Amino acid sequence: MALTILMVDDEPLMRLSIVDALEAVGHEVSAAATGTEGIEEARRREYDLVITDLRLPGADGLAVLKAAKAARAHTEVVVITAHGSVETAVGAMKFGAFDYITKPFKMDELLLIVERAGTVIALRKENQDLKEILEDKFSFGGILGSNTKMRAVLEKIKTVAATDSTVLILGESGTGKELAANAVHQNSPRRDYPLIKVSCAALPESLLEAELFGHEKGAFTGALRQRRGRFEMANRGTLFLDEIGEISPVVQVKLLRVLQERKFERVGSNQTIDVDVRLVCATQKDLRKEVAAGRFREDLFYRLNVVQVVIPPLRERQEDIAVIADHVLEACSSKLNKKLRGFSQPARELLLRYSYPGNVRELENMVERAVALGREREAIQPSDLCGFQTCPYQGGDPQESCGFCQEGLTGGGAKKKEVPLTALSTAREEFEKEYILSVLERVEGSRTTAAKILGLSRKALWEKCKRYGIPSAREGSESDE
Ligand SMILES: Nc1ncnc2c1ncn2[C@@H]1O[C@H](COP(=O)(O)OP(=O)(O)OP(=O)(O)O)[C@@H](O)[C@H]1O
Ligand SMILES: [Mg+2]
Repeated sequence: MALTILMVDDEPLMRLSIVDALEAVGHEVSAAATGTEGIEEARRREYDLVITDLRLPGADGLAVLKAAKAARAHTEVVVITAHGSVETAVGAMKFGAFDYITKPFKMDELLLIVERAGTVIALRKENQDLKEILEDKFSFGGILGSNTKMRAVLEKIKTVAATDSTVLILGESGTGKELAANAVHQNSPRRDYPLIKVSCAALPESLLEAELFGHEKGAFTGALRQRRGRFEMANRGTLFLDEIGEISPVVQVKLLRVLQERKFERVGSNQTIDVDVRLVCATQKDLRKEVAAGRFREDLFYRLNVVQVVIPPLRERQEDIAVIADHVLEACSSKLNKKLRGFSQPARELLLRYSYPGNVRELENMVERAVALGREREAIQPSDLCGFQTCPYQGGDPQESCGFCQEGLTGGGAKKKEVPLTALSTAREEFEKEYILSVLERVEGSRTTAAKILGLSRKALWEKCKRYGIPSAREGSESDE
């Protein structure tokens, strides 16, 4: 592979002959005659490889190495050292040099080292490309997910984003509801208009009403001037109502009217305002229960529940734990410019075993802390993940450990499913049922489409559904039955 190389040496003859030799085998080479010049150049451009003499006038080769690595961690550095000062070269290895070569050397020896560096660089690039392809496949709008259920969720978000339907996002705290709302807006035709967010739990009833619909000057104590509401601000864009389960009956009625008529009035005004707003709502609450308990209007629920996106808790999608943990590890370590060797095996096992009551947010915080605590060039250990002084992984008393360590010690809340040994026919039926259910979910309950995908006649599918007790229309989605 042709590399971009920076050659730093103060001896003109040496510099020129190395540049010539490297160019002769196809590399693109720049040269610098002093350490200071080398540092400037390494910062100015992205080099695959820097070759530097250790002894230079001004800033020395070690300074060039450090500056090149700081500017771009993926740049490899080969140092040239005088005979008898190998210790300095070994020191350079500690600062991340790829290799060193001792003077005097044959050009072929240097070319061999460069070739090895080239192989490593090419492999890394290939990995990066592959990763981007995979991430593309397993992510949408920044939401990572390789678990089957999660991929169906991503598909659904992608599909619904293109429409103008109201979306109701359900999921426990930290599962990524806000991220999903962002993805819906950013991938919708409204993306060039605002996405306005309102947390309905953060404000008392009277203020929430004014916040949403705006108010006239003097509409209530404290309303010193006229103010536009969030609905107006979101015009032509998207309004994200977070924690919709918290809104009071009065606001529920007002919201229902906007949804029905796309019209409202500012608090304290008779003038009707029209808006073109797409609504996305989210809640951790079970809205059906809220309806049953009389706390949430049923008519409003149906208006909001046009397309339902349910984000499963992290403990139900173990595959995503590793994907997200690796992603956060990489993002954080590059932000902190810290080189870590990934997760140690015990740390990885603990991560998979934990139940994450705080879902992705908790995992994210845990890995961020681990990156901050982890030792440079070492793998992350269980104790880095926990960070509690009293924890057993820190040498403390198991009785006083945090939830993470306790679950790690006792086997955890998200234990691997034990597969019971059953007859093949039973296993096949179970799979068949699960598979039909997942297809029906993907096609929003339409049996005609599902039958086509499954390669069954409608009648055959109907019989199977009956046998497996699959109801004809799934909750919250339309069906052609
Ligand atoms: N699938 C995912 N891939 C990558 N990051 C994620 C994913 N899900 C959530 N996150 C990250 O986890 C954090 C929490 O997500 P978010 O704020 O969207 O959750 P939420 O469901 O709105 O939580 P809450 O109910 O507490 O408001 C964010 O930093 C978000 O970027
Ligand atoms: Mg949220």
